[in-house]
Amino acid sequence: MKGVILAAGKGTRLYPVTKVVPKPLLPIANKMTLGYAFDQLKDCGISEVAVVVGENEAAMREALGDGSAFGLSLSFVRQPDPKGLAHAVGFAKDFVAGDDFVLYLGDAIYSEPLAPFVQQFRDRGCANLNLVKAVEDPRRFGVANVEGDRIIKLVEKPAEPESNLAMAGMYVFGPQIWDVLPDLQPSARGEYEITDAIQTLVDRGHEVVAGVYTGDWFDTGTLPSFLETSRFLTQNGQLVALDASVKAEMGEHVVVGAGATVECGRLVDSVVLPGAHVRVDGDVVGCLLGGEVTSPIGLDSAIMYGDLS
Ligand code: DAU
Repeated sequence: MKGVILAAGKGTRLYPVTKVVPKPLLPIANKMTLGYAFDQLKDCGISEVAVVVGENEAAMREALGDGSAFGLSLSFVRQPDPKGLAHAVGFAKDFVAGDDFVLYLGDAIYSEPLAPFVQQFRDRGCANLNLVKAVEDPRRFGVANVEGDRIIKLVEKPAEPESNLAMAGMYVFGPQIWDVLPDLQPSARGEYEITDAIQTLVDRGHEVVAGVYTGDWFDTGTLPSFLETSRFLTQNGQLVALDASVKAEMGEHVVVGAGATVECGRLVDSVVLPGAHVRVDGDVVGCLLGGEVTSPIGLDSAIMYGDLS
């Protein structure tokens, strides 16, 4: 079993911070986002992992190296343009070389172990197992209809979902997937969808199974979801690196990274990245800040990296 992590997105919803630090490398609760993926894959008994990268390739290679610092053997695969999840995974075909593999979306973080789902895939001997989770509003996700534990239909971001089971960002595939990818067409949003690839497996009579996940699942792609994940991982507390300096009234849910300095009024529900220097004449609430940030007024729900915009 191998691992493939998709991390080629541009992270535009966290600009400008992700212009400097690629989203997969952003620390959450002072640990790199991809570190959570690495730990999950290792827990699944996987040691060979490919990271699908895009424009962020140089920064990703430099930060991750050969993976030995994380107890993994890492390869990098370049997706020239972010044309969809099924497009991205196609570039990992040579790396996977006919093995089974776990496909993991680089911005997903789970509170519970995923190893039982890899075991479920093996026990079932199926072509594909997909993590699904019951959610209140499935319209933002791929949505699965199931019969027993079998997935019989999938729709990407349906306006009128037929079920509340969202595709939850972790997939286990056998080699059957490689026959399907060349036949895919772009979706209405112009992407090669992994849901369409899986639907094609279903249509061709392969056994496609749902693994129902009931733990917490976070996607770190927007400021609210990034801060929500940070709150969860710090158990709603404050996490200030030992060598950071904070001159502020500390509120709840605050993370300050190594070497950072902060001077402001109240600091609440915010993340200050390692090495940042923040001087704000006012309160800082619900922010993600990096670089040299100065402001004559308080900041609320801001994403800033120095004077970038
Ligand atoms: O979060 C779960 C959802 O992820 C599923 O329910 C959907 O079925 C699935 O299509 C996907 O939807 P999103 O639209 O939320 O995917 P997003 O564009 O956020 O990309 C997910 C990850 O894949 C992200 O870490 C960036 C990476 N990626 C994305 C694209 C489009 C790539 O590496 N290459 C790409 O071309």
